[in-house]
Amino acid sequence: MNTFAKPSETAAKQLLSESGLPIEDITAKHLQHFFSCGPGPDLEGLVGLELYGEVALLRSLVVAPNQRGSGLGSRLVEHAEHYARDRGVKSLYLLTMTAEAFFLRRGYARLLRENAPEAIRNTKEFSGICPLSSAFMVKNL
Ligand SMILES: CC(C)(COP(=O)(O)OP(=O)(O)OC[C@H]1O[C@@H](n2cnc3c(N)ncnc32)[C@H](O)[C@@H]1OP(=O)(O)O)[C@@H](O)C(=O)NCCC(=O)NCCS
Repeated sequence: MNTFAKPSETAAKQLLSESGLPIEDITAKHLQHFFSCGPGPDLEGLVGLELYGEVALLRSLVVAPNQRGSGLGSRLVEHAEHYARDRGVKSLYLLTMTAEAFFLRRGYARLLRENAPEAIRNTKEFSGICPLSSAFMVKNL
């Protein structure tokens, strides 16, 4: 079992940038619903949520390269899904350039960008940071 904690901004940005994921819009406010794990100052894994009532954006999922393939990514996603469901989220959206197959195997489905709810459309990830070629996906919780 992993214990998840709120990451420091520095540690979160370091792990994300090492794997080429966006950090430019991450602020202390975002980190309110971010979860990380790892025994020391260097994180082993991270996931984040942006909550907008009944919809939310799952973002910033990353596992340190030397920890991949042992289930940590799956546990981070499950933790974020439980947390979101407990807060009334009904549909969880995400954008990914690199992990479409991983999310397909975990119950997410591709969706056309034009079907994004307004709150998701207004996020920085959706409107600017993630390339148009990213897969846009949703899971009903
Ligand atoms: C996507 C990512 C978070 C998955 O983390 P993880 O801890 O490896 O995830 P898991 O161990 O739960 O599952 C990995 C899957 O790859 C398989 N796998 C096997 N060996 C593996 C290896 N050496 N490395 C990675 N995955 C491996 C696992 O069997 C599993 O397959 P499944 O989907 O059929 O169950 C991780 O690869 C990552 O950080 N990638 C870079 C960042 C990224 O793409 N983030 C998504 C942005 S939205």
